[in-house]
Amino acid sequence: MTIIKQVDELKALVNEFSSFARMPAANPSPNDLNEVVREVMTLYKPGQRAISFESSLDDRLPVLDIDRDQIKRVLINLMDNAIAAVGDEGGAVRIETAYMPELQLARLEVIDTGPGIPPEAKQKLFEPYFSTKKTGTGLGLAITSNIIADHNGYIRVRDNQPRGTRFVIELPVKTVTI
Ligand SMILES: Nc1ncnc2c1ncn2[C@@H]1O[C@H](COP(=O)(O)OP(=O)(O)OP(=O)(O)O)[C@@H](O)[C@H]1O
Ligand SMILES: [Mg+2]
Repeated sequence: MTIIKQVDELKALVNEFSSFARMPAANPSPNDLNEVVREVMTLYKPGQRAISFESSLDDRLPVLDIDRDQIKRVLINLMDNAIAAVGDEGGAVRIETAYMPELQLARLEVIDTGPGIPPEAKQKLFEPYFSTKKTGTGLGLAITSNIIADHNGYIRVRDNQPRGTRFVIELPVKTVTI
């Protein structure tokens, strides 16, 4: 590897690291999660011919107290991973939202039909710098889980059936107190 390439990689790493370390705190305001999902989907729809992009959005979803930019970052990180997993052979990438009134939660899922994630890797996914990609920083899911924690939410990973991966996020729905 040339020195120049090493320097470039180091610079990229430092940039990624500092943006991770100095990530601003969430600044939540009332937002329509479905609208945020729709906006993110428009970034991906054109171009990728081998991948079918799908969404299923629950219109009963109430307004949520979320940081719109940060939730976009979450969706983009998960979409980028899903698209990389599906790869050149193609497949489907899907975003779903659902309102669970009895739990006062909104569920947001990013689903792909890629190869899935081996059990050993599942333990390390959300740790900074865990990556199986040649040029991956391994910060995507670490940042994602920080953002969800800042929103008092949960993120977990599940196998999709018959193949692929589901990232499941649950966000609290603020109940109005009178
Ligand atoms: N949908 C997925 N299917 C299969 N493996 C996944 C999926 N999402 C994440 N992974 C695995 O988790 C690892 C960590 O993901 P993360 O987004 O944190 O970093 P990265 O994608 O490798 O790097 P970067 O986000 O900087 O591009 C990936 O390298 C990959 O091995
Ligand atoms: Mg990633």
